[in-house]
Amino acid sequence: MITAIANRKGGVGKTTVTCMLAHVFATEGRRVLVIDFDSQANASMLLLGVERHNEAKEAGITVDKFLLNGLLAGQALDYFVLDDAGDVRASRAREKSSLSVVASLDALEAAEDDAKLALSREAASYDDFQNRISNVLGAEIRRIAADYEHVLIDCPPSISAAMIAAIRVADHVVVPYVPDHLAMNGVTRVVSEMFDIRQEENKKRFHDVVKIRRHERALRYHTLPNMAPNTEVARGAIEEIARHHPQFNMMVPRSAAIADAFRWRSEPVTMTEKYGAEGRKAAESLYRELSAVERMVA
Ligand SMILES: Nc1ncnc2c1ncn2[C@@H]1O[C@H](COP(=O)(O)OP(=O)(O)O)[C@@H](O)[C@H]1O
Ligand SMILES: [Mg+2]
Repeated sequence: MITAIANRKGGVGKTTVTCMLAHVFATEGRRVLVIDFDSQANASMLLLGVERHNEAKEAGITVDKFLLNGLLAGQALDYFVLDDAGDVRASRAREKSSLSVVASLDALEAAEDDAKLALSREAASYDDFQNRISNVLGAEIRRIAADYEHVLIDCPPSISAAMIAAIRVADHVVVPYVPDHLAMNGVTRVVSEMFDIRQEENKKRFHDVVKIRRHERALRYHTLPNMAPNTEVARGAIEEIARHHPQFNMMVPRSAAIADAFRWRSEPVTMTEKYGAEGRKAAESLYRELSAVERMVA
């Protein structure tokens, strides 16, 4: 299953949720691939450590290079996968982690521009560039997903070709949000944008209206409250969003240990050491809810 983690708003916990999920999948011994599409590369640093992320950057094994080489020279995404990632110990006896990462870099946006420039003689319009890039990205993600039990895509806050590709190929989207006065706005905006992206895709893939309708419904997503304070405003926001959107039953609590999870441990630790007891419980609940979605999608 391919899960995208998306919200146009920054600081709502997309990267945190992506990494918690990746770690919990890995502790279950399941093969999981994280694709970092955010040029801030926080997930890459969190799951590889700054040193290894820098090595990947020096060696040119980052997603911006894939974007250019994949598009212009047909290079496979497989080359850019970094295995044995994460700093949480697998609970089952395994020597290596079953967690892999395609790392991002601040050069990702520039790579999209370069790709557009390189295609400028062939492509008809701006939309056409964007489409061709996201088609190549999407096709490669679909292909590589067959080698993993789960693919998690940490989306950027911008509607880039990478974001479009992620939403097109996702079987399910998780939309984390912080429940405040503006949360409903942000969630509704990203959900409607996601539906627009899927509809564009449908128009190209299907000619018949019935098929489009069926495919549209296939965009499954769940909203996920994160860092909710114990206030009337937060409870109101969560309720309002649940009235209009599917929502997970669990919430991710605000905790110092979860905030500290961005710190890379050079020796693998347990889920409790990494995310705290509360964080581990949240990660496991999230894993169970996502597994239920997975059974529905399968
Ligand atoms: N449940 C949480 N408890 C405490 N801090 C959190 C929690 N979720 C996220 N944070 C912190 O909030 C900040 C933004 O989270 P992040 O995952 O980077 O959001 P995004 O990827 O949506 O921009 C980070 O500093 C992160 O450590
Ligand atoms: Mg992020």
